[in-house]
Amino acid sequence: MTTLIIKTFIAGAVSAVLATNAVAQSAKKPSSPLIISQNETAPKHPAGSVANSSNASPIYGVTIPEGYREWKVIAVNHDTGKFNQLRAQLGNDIAFKAMQEGKLPFPDGAIIAALHWNAESSEENNKVLAVLGVQSVTPTSPANVQFMVKDSKKYATTGGWGFADFKGGKPGNEALHQTCFACHVPAKAQDYVFTHFARTP
Ligand code: HEC
Repeated sequence: MTTLIIKTFIAGAVSAVLATNAVAQSAKKPSSPLIISQNETAPKHPAGSVANSSNASPIYGVTIPEGYREWKVIAVNHDTGKFNQLRAQLGNDIAFKAMQEGKLPFPDGAIIAALHWNAESSEENNKVLAVLGVQSVTPTSPANVQFMVKDSKKYATTGGWGFADFKGGKPGNEALHQTCFACHVPAKAQDYVFTHFARTP
């Protein structure tokens, strides 16, 4: 970028224009905000030390588990109020089996994924379902995905669970991740998991 400093002298009918880019040459680039934010979100939890990357959740160091979109459905729910979301809770094989058998606490290696979509009433479906007096709510756009990863030693201070929240593939900040465990404490009787297994229809 070239900066021009223009000084204009008007003396009677004479104008002089002086230009210099000396200021631009000596100007230093500010340090990258990206580097600063990486330091701020570096996992502070000792357990998170394995994943010192910006793809991992702060505090817990949990990255997006491969293939989670193909895990089995534990349950679904519909959250309304301040937002309208359809949510699906999926489990890897260990989590699904534990849920199905009602085995508590969850064994190490269990991972629960919570897929959240923004939802709206579907005009397309409603037209057809009107004959039944039924209205249909369907997912519109992805909102976020959350994970709970069971490792009783690594995450001993948070009920044995590591938490992670991703939006568009990027983990949320540390402040967000500080809210997770505290809010899951009321579900302590089910090993900090709110979702109940939805019986097979
Ligand atoms: C305000 C309280 C609250 C906060 C904060 C919160 N959760 Fe939850 N979470 C819930 C409730 C209640 C459910 C079940 C109902 C639902 O999903 O709407 C749930 C469900 C989940 C589930 C599905 C398994 C289960 O327990 O049912 C995961 C995974 C999850 N949360 C992860 C997280 C993560 C990661 C964070 C932090 C980024 C977080 N939660 C923060 C209350 C909370």
